[in-house]
Amino acid sequence: MSAHPEPLSSPVPVVEAERHDDAPAVQALVLAAFGPGRFAKTAERVREASSIAAGFVVRRGTAILGSVRLWTIRIGDEDALFLGPIAVDAAARNAGLGQAMVEACVTWSRTAGASGILLVGDAPWFGRSGFVPVAGVSLPGPVDVGRLMWLSLDGSSPTGMVRGVRA
Ligand SMILES: CC(C)(COP(=O)(O)OP(=O)(O)OC[C@H]1O[C@@H](n2cnc3c(N)ncnc32)[C@H](O)[C@@H]1OP(=O)(O)O)[C@@H](O)C(=O)NCCC(=O)NCCS
Repeated sequence: MSAHPEPLSSPVPVVEAERHDDAPAVQALVLAAFGPGRFAKTAERVREASSIAAGFVVRRGTAILGSVRLWTIRIGDEDALFLGPIAVDAAARNAGLGQAMVEACVTWSRTAGASGILLVGDAPWFGRSGFVPVAGVSLPGPVDVGRLMWLSLDGSSPTGMVRGVRA
């Protein structure tokens, strides 16, 4: 047996659909990444009123190294998806897992025929995946408009109030 630990990532991270029994590990990963303060965030108000449309994880053995979810929302009168939270285990970062999970979300959303994906996050990082700042969209609470990002999948530019919807 090798004395070296297993590498944290393969060259191509394998992103899989989240399973029902992944929920506790996903919760622990997100808590470690964001702390309990995330429950005070406006994005959480949106998610509380939503359903999970899709979830993706990256595994190593039985451990979950990365997680992301998509939620059903409406922006004004249009259906859309809301991405987040996305988290990667601190020991597995900078190996492409995060971007691979965003790409999985985009592929899934495109296949599902979604108009686009909204999120609240770091513009420089999500900009790498094609997200652009969006104006004219309001959330049910305070949000840093510079962190409000949109990826259009049908050419649309959303306007109006964002609210979670249950599928
Ligand atoms: C953000 C996060 C999901 C990225 O996951 P990851 O697997 O490390 O991402 P990737 O490996 O695909 O990308 C890493 C690259 O993005 C850069 N990067 C990471 N976070 C960044 C940020 N917030 N802003 C700008 N660049 C960032 C890294 O420096 C690295 O750059 P390089 O490719 O030039 O070396 C992860 O750092 C994380 O879980 N952070 C804590 C939770 C969080 O902040 N979630 C996002 C909310 S906006």
